[in-house]
Amino acid sequence: MKIGLLGHGTIGGGVDQIIGGIEGMEVKSVVSLEVDDSFRDRHVNGIDDIVNDPEIDTVVEVMGGVEPAFTFVSKAMKAGKNLVTANKALVAAHYEDLIRLSEENGVSFRATASAGGSIPWLVNLSRAKRADTILELAGIMNGTTNFILSKMKNEGADFDETLREAQALGFAEADPSADIDGADIRRKLNISANIAYDVQIPEDSIDTFGIRNVTSQDIRNAAALGRTLKLAGFSGKTEDGIFAYVEPVLLPSEDVMAYIPSNYNLIRYRGAYAGIQSYVGEGAGRYPTAYNVVEDLFDILAGEKHFYTVTAVPAVPDNTAPVHRYYVRTSVITPGLLEMAEDRQDGYVITKPVSVRGMHSFIREQLIRDPAAFIAGIPD
Ligand code: HSE
Repeated sequence: MKIGLLGHGTIGGGVDQIIGGIEGMEVKSVVSLEVDDSFRDRHVNGIDDIVNDPEIDTVVEVMGGVEPAFTFVSKAMKAGKNLVTANKALVAAHYEDLIRLSEENGVSFRATASAGGSIPWLVNLSRAKRADTILELAGIMNGTTNFILSKMKNEGADFDETLREAQALGFAEADPSADIDGADIRRKLNISANIAYDVQIPEDSIDTFGIRNVTSQDIRNAAALGRTLKLAGFSGKTEDGIFAYVEPVLLPSEDVMAYIPSNYNLIRYRGAYAGIQSYVGEGAGRYPTAYNVVEDLFDILAGEKHFYTVTAVPAVPDNTAPVHRYYVRTSVITPGLLEMAEDRQDGYVITKPVSVRGMHSFIREQLIRDPAAFIAGIPD
């Protein structure tokens, strides 16, 4: 297998290193904005050098971002190259296009590392739905924010300092606002839901609230309520369609997700037959993510095509269906909030059960009145 590597940063460098020790795989050419001595002799000027090289059969895209990544991988697939990518933004935005390109050109398309880092989550999800109906999926799907929340809880660490540490460890995105504002989880949830339910969800239709505003007091308030604060994604089937949202959540101590440490992820589904299946592993970082890219390459060598679906029906989540209580910490108490309140404590309110759509609409408006406001769902 001769590979054209697009991107030689944190993940690309790891992929190059792992492949260097594998017989039968070779990174022949590399496209990268920055060049170092480890691949200077294999560096080429642009995508056309890879597309026009008949020896290269597979492209690994780990540049990140939607463009120019989509233009590059489209050219490569049209030229008959298999595609392996770890790029969540690309797969979430162009899920259906990538499947079509893969089918039209008879090439493989695999993206296991795009959700869950080292975890073979997407592989197992696509396998599970052959014999089962996926009813729900949920999880801690971002290593950076789990690392931050774990350290804030266990060590009383400072948010900004811990985020810088996550960046230095190669967990955070180039722009870490994607991590802390929940966009990274939203993309992974989007890809997972697309596979689980055979749909194509527009990314911006998933209600999302991150942990940019979380404070040490929120962590202490969670502990006083006997709960642990995590950031997670949730999705499921209802009678009328699907729901999907990302939000901080106050987990009870009986939920194993409350104990997931550091940069680890826990992602689970509930199948009609299988019941709950959970997957735990390192969700971010150079080698964990690069490992799953290389596993996809082995699957291609073994003759696997793609593992998604041929029936990606457009779908928009209906988040009026899921209903639960919320923790709302804000310094601006409005009549609307008092109407929702079940309990009022010093600095925060616990609401009655309200819909996810209702609460996310409320917090979008509340942030204009109080830019520091914070919410977290409270599952029963
Ligand atoms: N920034 C991502 C995370 C990388 O922290 O989970 C892995 O997708």
